[in-house]
Amino acid sequence: MLASLIVSLSMSYTLLRASDRSLAGTGLRHTSGRIVNGLSESKFSFGDGGETFTISEISDYEEGCGIGRNIWEASVALSCFLASYSESMGRTLEIGAGVGLVGHSIASNSSKARVVMTDHFAPLVDNLASSLLRNDLKATTALLDWREPELADAVASGSFDTVVGADVIYYYPDVKPIAAILQHLLAEAGGTAWIASPDYRAAEIGQALAATLRDKHGAIVDEEKYILVSEVGEIGDEAEQTETDKEDAIVHRRDFFGGAGNDSGGGEPEAGHSIFRVRFPAVAKG
Ligand SMILES: *[C@@H]1O[C@H](CO)[C@@H](O)[C@H](O)[C@H]1NC(C)=O
Ligand SMILES: *[C@@H]1O[C@H](CO)[C@@H](O)[C@H](O)[C@H]1NC(C)=O
Repeated sequence: MLASLIVSLSMSYTLLRASDRSLAGTGLRHTSGRIVNGLSESKFSFGDGGETFTISEISDYEEGCGIGRNIWEASVALSCFLASYSESMGRTLEIGAGVGLVGHSIASNSSKARVVMTDHFAPLVDNLASSLLRNDLKATTALLDWREPELADAVASGSFDTVVGADVIYYYPDVKPIAAILQHLLAEAGGTAWIASPDYRAAEIGQALAATLRDKHGAIVDEEKYILVSEVGEIGDEAEQTETDKEDAIVHRRDFFGGAGNDSGGGEPEAGHSIFRVRFPAVAKG
């Protein structure tokens, strides 16, 4: 029953600055949900007029995909943030793309960005490639393991203006390689990375990454805290909904995102996320 319930509901997401609850990003709608215990397809769009794109999650039974097989909440937060970010992103690389919500969002929302979505797991990269075809989005994919800089060189012939990563820091041995690969990809052009991580799970390791980038790589790192608010909406008349259905959907949504979020008092779940802006001063030539 839950599966058909979730499919008949929509969520819209708003990102607020934690300091004053001012609006930092809006407009991402998620209009179909997870089929419990199985494969899911989620449709996303920006605003009412934006193109819809479909993200395919990968079944738990598929091997060799790691935890990037699902949509994680920090990718929703970063997608909202970047859609409201007015500067041009230029040549953009996503690390740890997983099922690719952030890369798809950028490719769909910002026509000028040229996006390369990368992940360490080959089946995830295959899934990303077929998803781009299906959504007719002009982005590319590549295998990238940040512990193997020579793979990075194959992807990054030249350098990037922007690197994005959502929920990529959860394992301490990755801090050094992630810091190093950010510098490797960005330093030449004096580019910027946006790294999002959920506070409930990764606050300390986020600080460790920021410190490593500052102390060992000469990066300028700014951190801002945000609150992601999800609002349950209704789409179509496929199911008659009751308040209990809505409450179930909110509880289910929390499970969907690995237990993130709490009740804001208005009946809608909220969760805290940090977004780090990492800049490398451009290297002076000659
Ligand atoms: C990008 O997202 C913003 C914020 O939701 C929206 O206003 C805008 O219409 C979107 N643009 C495109 C091309 O989808
Ligand atoms: C709920 O989450 C928000 C955002 O992370 C946080 O500011 C607030 O303190 C949390 N409330 C409770 C009761 O945990």
